Amino acid sequence: MKRKLIVILSVISLLAKADEGMWMPQLIAALNINDMKKNGFKLTAEQIYSINKASMKDAVAIFGGGCTAEVISEKGLILTNHHCGFSSIANLSSVQHDYLKDGYWAMNAKEELYCKDLTVTFIKRIEDVTSKILGNVKPTFSEIQRDSAIQSNLKSLEKKTKEEYKYDTFIRGFFYGNEYYLFVTETFRDIRLVGTPPESIGKFGGETDNWVWPRHNADFSMFRIYANKENKPAEYSEENVPYKPVYSFPISLKGYEKGDFTMVYGFPGRTQEYLTSYAVNFVQNVQDPVRVELREKRLAILDADMGKNDTIRLMYANKYAGVANYAKKWKGEMIGLQKSDAVQKKEQFEQDFLKMVSADASKKEKYTNLLSEFKKTYEEYAPLSKQYDYFTECLMGIDALRFAGSFQVVFNELRNKRDGKDNKFDAKFRELKPVLPFKNFNKETDRKLCYAMLDMYVKNVDKSLRPAYLDSLVDAYKGNIQALTDFLYNNSSFVDNKKAQQMFADFEKSGQLYERDPMYVLATSILRHYQKTVIPQVNYYELQIAEMQKEYMKGLRENVKDKKFYPDANGTLRVTFGKVADYKPRDGVEYEHFTTIDGLVDKNKSGLEDFYVKPRLLELFEKKDFGSYVDKNGKLRIAFTGSNHTTGGNSGSPVLNAKGELIGTNFDRNWEGTMSDIMYNGSFCRNIALDVRFTLWVVDKYAGAGYLLNEMKLIKK
Ligand code: ARG
Ligand code: GLU
Repeated sequence: MKRKLIVILSVISLLAKADEGMWMPQLIAALNINDMKKNGFKLTAEQIYSINKASMKDAVAIFGGGCTAEVISEKGLILTNHHCGFSSIANLSSVQHDYLKDGYWAMNAKEELYCKDLTVTFIKRIEDVTSKILGNVKPTFSEIQRDSAIQSNLKSLEKKTKEEYKYDTFIRGFFYGNEYYLFVTETFRDIRLVGTPPESIGKFGGETDNWVWPRHNADFSMFRIYANKENKPAEYSEENVPYKPVYSFPISLKGYEKGDFTMVYGFPGRTQEYLTSYAVNFVQNVQDPVRVELREKRLAILDADMGKNDTIRLMYANKYAGVANYAKKWKGEMIGLQKSDAVQKKEQFEQDFLKMVSADASKKEKYTNLLSEFKKTYEEYAPLSKQYDYFTECLMGIDALRFAGSFQVVFNELRNKRDGKDNKFDAKFRELKPVLPFKNFNKETDRKLCYAMLDMYVKNVDKSLRPAYLDSLVDAYKGNIQALTDFLYNNSSFVDNKKAQQMFADFEKSGQLYERDPMYVLATSILRHYQKTVIPQVNYYELQIAEMQKEYMKGLRENVKDKKFYPDANGTLRVTFGKVADYKPRDGVEYEHFTTIDGLVDKNKSGLEDFYVKPRLLELFEKKDFGSYVDKNGKLRIAFTGSNHTTGGNSGSPVLNAKGELIGTNFDRNWEGTMSDIMYNGSFCRNIALDVRFTLWVVDKYAGAGYLLNEMKLIKK
């Protein structure tokens, strides 16, 4: 009896740590509301999510490709991170109008700047469609049959619901495909930049501080949603008017104390909390190390060139930030998993799990077999995955090669057209044309990248696994990778604006000539090699693993009683709740749960480039011109940490207090806690949020755009 209890306790403690969980908003009433109330939440589940009444969910949106934003005024004003607005801000910038460097604030509606290709999506409702997707999938189906049945059900249901609801819809699998949910959405396409602080504030601390606590950057930017006269989504037009939202968040100037309830409402991208020990070992020892090494090499090269001049810096700013961000995250994750003995903990859990099901012999056998299948599959998959990462992170890290490769389909269609066959040449060619003249590409920088990447590739990927054509080139140049690289860059039209423009000018007539371009030939030979040999195998293993995970997940949910399961993040709307919390990063060290402008000024004194700020900020600091944005000790706070379980995609998410008032904007996690995507630990995994009082201070005092505060609902002290 006692033993059994210990087993159950250890299982539960691994699966259900306080504050862990990314909950589906429509299930909060059934699953979480009591827990939330116990922790201090003052509102009802219906105020979080309702399809009949205005609720918080109507003010939380997918921003751009993968961030979250929240509505903070009745006139469609939205708040997100600086790094989420980054690519839009960079697109609007030039060397003359450098909004990254100088910041930008519209002083009236006319000055708000339209951001091409930026969208903002709201969720209208969420429905369980599991039976519609899995209803006709028979247990006797093979993996392939099952997959194709599900895909076809997904497609037809999406189409049907789009017509029925007159809204866009998408369906996602949850719990590794054990359940499916439908999301009815509304996407706005006329989004305008209202304001952004300069990078020296928005990204203060640069890559040095990224993923690190204590933090002192004001990672925010503001946009406005525009709609047509009927308040519906429309393409950009001068006639459009500010969107009138269903709901917008009140903003609290009252601050918070350690231990206060907080919740984060947003769109977390991807977590993998239910992996086996074999998978964790794979991530920690196979996947992360290779990816980190390759990215660090690329970054060193970009870094050197970007330091040389502003044109190159602007060209590569966005790419650099993206590559650096995950390189650092994976590194933190790798170290965190190692330090917390994640693999051993999972092994222990698996043994406990088998004991839990041992009363039923057939179950025990089933899961014992499943776990050894996992082991075998990951062992086989590891070398293949490494080879695949060398394709995506190394070869495809060369811009010219990737660009040339994207012509494969155009040449194929051109050939079809020449032969008088059905073809999509015109459409495909049009898709490629806007890239000219090459923006964000510097031939000499790319040449260096190419050399470094090919060099690493040839050194680390076994000859027998390399594309034959690449190998023959290496042989022809007697292993001199620099000479090979120079041959490519001195002769290709895919690396040179002038030559490329010529090529585009009469592509239809003489395009086929360029099929002999050396960069193109290399790119296609690489793509063909991977398309034929590596990718199908990768897909095969991924499908196997997905099937096994689905079985395992089902087993966990059926057999681990007393545990509330939440589905892994999958880019859909989630609520996570916890509290304002500090942490101990290591023995003998304690971190406070908030930072202030004093710390920013201290960091600035280091003189390091990442900690540069404009004199204006220092002047305001000297004058102590903090207005009513200070805490009760007169300190101007910048950021704070909490135990909310978040991940990539939660950037820009509203951080709310017990009354659902906005107290911050989520923007990062702590270095020690980046492993939380795989194994959350409430004692040291922290989300990092920007204090909304600092946001308002920047808008009001620094930028002089205080007029914007008039449209917000401020809860004063
Ligand atoms: N680490 C944060 C996230 O995952 C912020 C990234 C942007 N900031 C930066 N310094 N690169 O997106
Ligand atoms: N910065 C992340 C994002 O862009 C949030 C940090 C995290 O991964 O938790 O979503």
